[in-house]
Amino acid sequence: MKTQPAIVVIFGASGDLAKRKLIPALFNLYLDKQMPSEFTILGISRKGNTEAFRTQMREAISNHSRRGEQGLEKWDQFAERLDYIVGDYADASVYEKLGKRIQEDEKSWGQAAAHIYYLSVPPEVFPAIADNLGAAGLSEDPERDRIVIEKPFGRDMESAEDLNKRLLDSFNERQVYRIDHYLGKETVQNILAFRFANALYEPIWNRQYVDHVQITVSEEGGVEKRGGYYESSGALRDMIQNHLLQLMCLVGMEPPTSFDSDEVRNKKVDVLRAVRPLLEGDLPNHAIRGQYGPANGAAGYREEEGVDPGSSTETYAALRLHIDNWRWHGVPFYLRTGKRLPKKLSEIVIQFRPVPHLAFPPTSADSFEPNRLMINIQPDEGISLCFQAKEPGAGMRLRTVTMDFNYCEAFHMTSREAYETLLQEVLCGDTSLFMRADQEHEAWRIVMPVLKAWESRKASGFPSYPAGTWGPAAADQLLARDGRAWHNPP
Ligand code: BG6
Repeated sequence: MKTQPAIVVIFGASGDLAKRKLIPALFNLYLDKQMPSEFTILGISRKGNTEAFRTQMREAISNHSRRGEQGLEKWDQFAERLDYIVGDYADASVYEKLGKRIQEDEKSWGQAAAHIYYLSVPPEVFPAIADNLGAAGLSEDPERDRIVIEKPFGRDMESAEDLNKRLLDSFNERQVYRIDHYLGKETVQNILAFRFANALYEPIWNRQYVDHVQITVSEEGGVEKRGGYYESSGALRDMIQNHLLQLMCLVGMEPPTSFDSDEVRNKKVDVLRAVRPLLEGDLPNHAIRGQYGPANGAAGYREEEGVDPGSSTETYAALRLHIDNWRWHGVPFYLRTGKRLPKKLSEIVIQFRPVPHLAFPPTSADSFEPNRLMINIQPDEGISLCFQAKEPGAGMRLRTVTMDFNYCEAFHMTSREAYETLLQEVLCGDTSLFMRADQEHEAWRIVMPVLKAWESRKASGFPSYPAGTWGPAAADQLLARDGRAWHNPP
């Protein structure tokens, strides 16, 4: 789809996100003819110049684009649209230059453009940039001025609200695009198609048929070079407050009446609002934290660069949540995430209840398992349904088999990157895939009691799981107490 001309301004253009994600995504949109015919990409940072920016971004494409070197013959044409402004984010003259540049481009194109301000900078700088854009009159057009904010959106409910107030001094809510990159993943968007474009699942998508839901986002890697950031974050803030709760919303939401951006977000925020508050005294039954220790020669979290050797920061978190509404009453949602687990995987398991009466003799069903639906967000993108089948041969013996849908096989293509989708949505002015202020607020409300409790009490027994295992034993007990177990893929 062609969109109006655009000026994409990347604050923090010399940083990692621009190299790894933003420029490769914009270049891929260009190769796929999804960029407007007129556009400029303006990097802003404290050091550098246009030439160096173009060279660095050319390298970034080879290293980080999903296409690798493919398509690079078009790089020079693309690179002509890259430009750079050097300056401090607090310096008003930077915004004057930016304003002038916008005017010049629009004049030469003979058309008004969308102005996209992408804040790929540390969160402390968000308010100053928003204020300066406002003061320079660069946020006034409610249709064309758009601000994109990377996570973390605050570090608790209070700071998120303060940040929001500052943003809303200069922009209105519809101009703010709060990124949760999980929402740009094809397989995450497919949850809506799967649930609401098929008649089959909706009648059984409730407490009558579903025993419980598990959402796992596991990572094989550790904190790598992000120890400094991670120390002030931890798994609960870094992953659960945003990515995992958003996945939960997509599984738990009521059918929207349309795909209007506010209608979908209204239905999602209803799920968050219905989450039963976690009570301080009952937290051990609902929230487990863990930290990886050394294993097989690899460093434990406390030995990583930038990490306090006595750190209490959790690299693993698991929650047991309840959604108090008619659909989900009594169905626990178990969420877990961690670094240095056995494999990188994001998966949602819908565990159905057993049949009410098993007519087969017990010996025929040694390995009987109730139906399970697995939504594989990554890396083996697809959906599998486990069910019982009769084993070939004499007599009646049951065995669990699966029916699989695999993205690559079905569509003969690899999924595009989340940032391509998200940037395209910003170019089109569609806010559906971005977090609204009330979603952020509710997500913070859910995790706040746990954050407070964990911050006020140093963790005992850390490190609590060796790297390469599925997390602390306490997380297994969280489910075992309910007579359940985590689905740990082989
Ligand atoms: C980011 C977190 O939001 O998501 C990282 O800050 C994490 O710590 C990453 O590694 C995981 O994203 P993905 O897309 O690789 O699952």
